[in-house]
Amino acid sequence: MKSRLTCNETLAQTAEKTGTPAYIYDLSVLRQQLAVFRNAFEVPRFSLLFATMANPSSQILELLAVEQAGACVNSTLHLDLVLAAGIPSDRIQFTASGLSVDQMRRLIDGQISVNLDSRRQVSQWLALGGGPFGVRLNAGSLTERLGDRLGFDQAEFDALRNEVPGNLVAGLHVYVGTNFLDPRDMLPTLRCFFQVAAGLPQLRYVNIGGGIGVDYNNTGLGFDINAFGNEVSQLHGLLSPDVMLFFEPGRGLAASSGVFLSRVTDIKRLQGTTFVACDASIAIFPRPLHHPESLHRVRPLRDVDHQIDVVVVGRTTFSRDILARCKLPLDIEVGDLLAFENAGAYCNSMASHFLGQPTPADFYFPIE
Ligand SMILES: Cc1ncc(COP(=O)(O)O)c(C=O)c1O
Repeated sequence: MKSRLTCNETLAQTAEKTGTPAYIYDLSVLRQQLAVFRNAFEVPRFSLLFATMANPSSQILELLAVEQAGACVNSTLHLDLVLAAGIPSDRIQFTASGLSVDQMRRLIDGQISVNLDSRRQVSQWLALGGGPFGVRLNAGSLTERLGDRLGFDQAEFDALRNEVPGNLVAGLHVYVGTNFLDPRDMLPTLRCFFQVAAGLPQLRYVNIGGGIGVDYNNTGLGFDINAFGNEVSQLHGLLSPDVMLFFEPGRGLAASSGVFLSRVTDIKRLQGTTFVACDASIAIFPRPLHHPESLHRVRPLRDVDHQIDVVVVGRTTFSRDILARCKLPLDIEVGDLLAFENAGAYCNSMASHFLGQPTPADFYFPIE
């Protein structure tokens, strides 16, 4: 399918209507990506949950609701958003750390499935009358390497199993890590995870999180979702076919459905570098600040011949307001439009009030 996001003319016309800066999405791309991700798995009981931290916009959530997808949320605000978008409570999993008593009460009242992060959280959940719950395992400790701060290690999980009746542990969750470009790098952790799950015959579900990477640098070596789905489906064969497999991608599902548009506002040379400023900032397009190692590809919305290396910066005084390091036309001009690709995930959802930037417009091409 040809995305409207790849057509410079269409994007330039859209920018005339929305103004800049703007996030432009193509919901057809999202729907197609959803189908690709779903088709990659072959297990008897499978459910795809979109990780809303990647992009909780109501248009995206409503499309997912229509397509019968679910949601992974980690805040009560996002829980409200997905319910309002029409995603039913039995297709939602709440996975976070440090839940407050109020949050737990809300999940219990709303019958929302939860994956808990510590033994203390489990005690609090049970004291509040919560029923069977899921446990998040720490990804690093599964393969005896340093992991992130989340979840149980093996010793804590063993201690928990001695403390609570086995049938209360209804699910196991893991999040292997972020932005993997090769499924083989995820598999050692997932193999260990499924081995632990295979030792728990009472489990109702396993949740393998997300982590599917995006080829931001356009190397052509994107994540092979079919190979991944095939491997995971085989690992699921270690479990009873009744065990539901939840997969909750954020980035891999949504990134390609959005671009960020900004207009050039200044060009200058300083100590041998060409700086191109535009009507944006890392405050409203924050991924480059958090992940300078995987910057977005930037495309000028007009035909170009010769290109030069430039640094694209925001229109602020923040020295780290660097949006891209890329090639742009030699004759780049004030007023030129730039499209930052793969901006559908972890971009608008990370925007902040820092630096006083106006909220970008957003625009959605509907399903074709
Ligand atoms: C619990 C959980 N699930 C899923 C995701 C989505 O991950 P990704 O965007 O890497 O697919 C995240 C992201 O932080 C997460 O914390």
